[in-house]
Amino acid sequence: MCGIVGYIGGQNCVPVLINGLESLEYRGYDSAGVAVISNGAIEIRKTKGKVENLRNLLLEQPVSGTVGIGHTRWATHGAPSDVNAHPHFSNDDKIAVVHNGIIENYQELKEKLQAKGYVFHSDTDTETVAHLIDDFYKQNNDLLEAVRLTLNVIEGSYALGVLCTDYPDQIIAARKESPLIVGIGEGSNFIASDIPAILNYTKNAYILGDKEFALIKADEIKLYDIDGNEIHRDVYTYNWDVEAAQKNGYDHFMLKEIYEQPKVVMDNLSRRFSADGKHVELDGIKLGRAELENINQIYIVACGTAYYAGLVGKYLLERMVRIPVNSEVASEFRYKDPLIDEHTLVIVVSQSGETADTLSALKLAKAKGSRVLGIVNAVGSSIAREADDVLYTLAGFEIAVASTKAFSAQVIAMYLLTLHIAQELGTLPEKDFLEIKEAMLRLPSQINDILTKAVPAIRSFVDKYISSKNVFYIGRGLDYVVSMEGSLKLKEIAYLHSEPYAAGELKHGPIALIESATLVVGVATQESLFDKTRSNMQEVKARGAKVLAIAMQGNRSIEEVADDVIYIPRTHWMLTSVLANIPQQLFAYYMALGLGEDIDKPRNLAKSVTVE
Ligand code: M6R
Repeated sequence: MCGIVGYIGGQNCVPVLINGLESLEYRGYDSAGVAVISNGAIEIRKTKGKVENLRNLLLEQPVSGTVGIGHTRWATHGAPSDVNAHPHFSNDDKIAVVHNGIIENYQELKEKLQAKGYVFHSDTDTETVAHLIDDFYKQNNDLLEAVRLTLNVIEGSYALGVLCTDYPDQIIAARKESPLIVGIGEGSNFIASDIPAILNYTKNAYILGDKEFALIKADEIKLYDIDGNEIHRDVYTYNWDVEAAQKNGYDHFMLKEIYEQPKVVMDNLSRRFSADGKHVELDGIKLGRAELENINQIYIVACGTAYYAGLVGKYLLERMVRIPVNSEVASEFRYKDPLIDEHTLVIVVSQSGETADTLSALKLAKAKGSRVLGIVNAVGSSIAREADDVLYTLAGFEIAVASTKAFSAQVIAMYLLTLHIAQELGTLPEKDFLEIKEAMLRLPSQINDILTKAVPAIRSFVDKYISSKNVFYIGRGLDYVVSMEGSLKLKEIAYLHSEPYAAGELKHGPIALIESATLVVGVATQESLFDKTRSNMQEVKARGAKVLAIAMQGNRSIEEVADDVIYIPRTHWMLTSVLANIPQQLFAYYMALGLGEDIDKPRNLAKSVTVE
């Protein structure tokens, strides 16, 4: 949560900061602010709400300078307000700080600082950091050392940007468990929570590690570990272009990302099969037969949409490899003392690679001796760096808070991993592998087909039922997993109450909620379960529900129990999830559009959840 950007160089930093903050708004949009060194003083402009409000404030109260830091906030400590917006000042306005993360011991530190006479103006944990740096600085007159001493005292997670009027030619940055990169320009340098913020200026950056900090000048960058030793890091070059962070004519990033899925799936499939076409080849995965034979159970751990992608993996691995697979949300897994050991493979799934709960789950698994495989989108992220093996999902930037293309890429990763493990352990005959591979290679054009054909039917369904207040999603097996993801998407962006149920479970209680015109999305793409799910759809229809069905082409009998049907192209049973989810994404998108919601920035949410 929260986005940080900083600039030091030869030009006015304010437009750089504002543009950077706009590309980071997916991380939080409760407030925004900048601190700029101007004529030897630090000028702060900050306000509640989106970056647009800050832009307007800067028109009324302009400021300029060549060194500055900016912040867009997802509130944790203290309500979204002008006073709680970052940056935060030390008492004499000498030091300004922006922060992403949570200082867990801030209350205790605050009391000690108050006893020394420091006055707090906000309810944030971050203000403690500004005063602490100031306190150490007053003792030793060395800003870099004051920051280092502060890092030794604060507990929790942080990405920090620090300015000081006594050092008008530098920014200090630090990180622990919250992302931060140091962008390398020519005659200018940057800090950012993520590369889109600075992609207009550079593709090269140092990725700061945990408990590392940086001294950044216009023409020099020095990196240090927590003990103050200078360290050296390879420059990482981001292989993405500026368009990747722009809407490119689409009304919303979410829609753009939905339409990118054929390419994302293709990217995830190309170069993943051996030259003879008979094997999966996964760079970065060192799980051969010997390692796999040492494993007697698998845990798949993640949050939100990534958890549902993991559930697809559970269904597939159990069925095709016959190893017990537990799937857990990371926030539960990390506190339940899970029964795992060196014979457990723990798979963590994360788009951002920074989700606090998932990262903690990973660390717990490693501490218990388990091997950890990360399925991660963000290259160089904390989870990617800490996992023993990494399978990158190659979805590119995902900017909309509601995850779409990343889910598809994660599901494809699950397909590939299942095939790899099944082949290594000899549970998948070559003939079956070749059949599945051919079906996988058809997925990009099949997704394209759905995107081309399904929109008119979905829009007309949305028009009919836009005033619905409750939507149920039902399915069985893999279709049940897809239902969960569909329901989450609708909640997130359309703010509609929505519940996913295993279709067979309805009659044990939830069916009592079905009444005239209740909306039900029924997913029935699993041929072996089709008749069962169809019967469950019949049951809700008989009680007055309006049913939107998602089924495979050819299964026309679904029309007898549904009001509207979206057909997906025929595919192998194990591959239906990625196709069945596309109409659900479009349904959530057009419902939210019809209701006039802020699709890319839904209320209360942020893209990257780096707090517990
Ligand atoms: O970055 P991650 O994949 O670890 O994020 C996990 C969830 O926070 C994320 O999938 C969330 O549920 C999305 N907003 C869903 O659209």
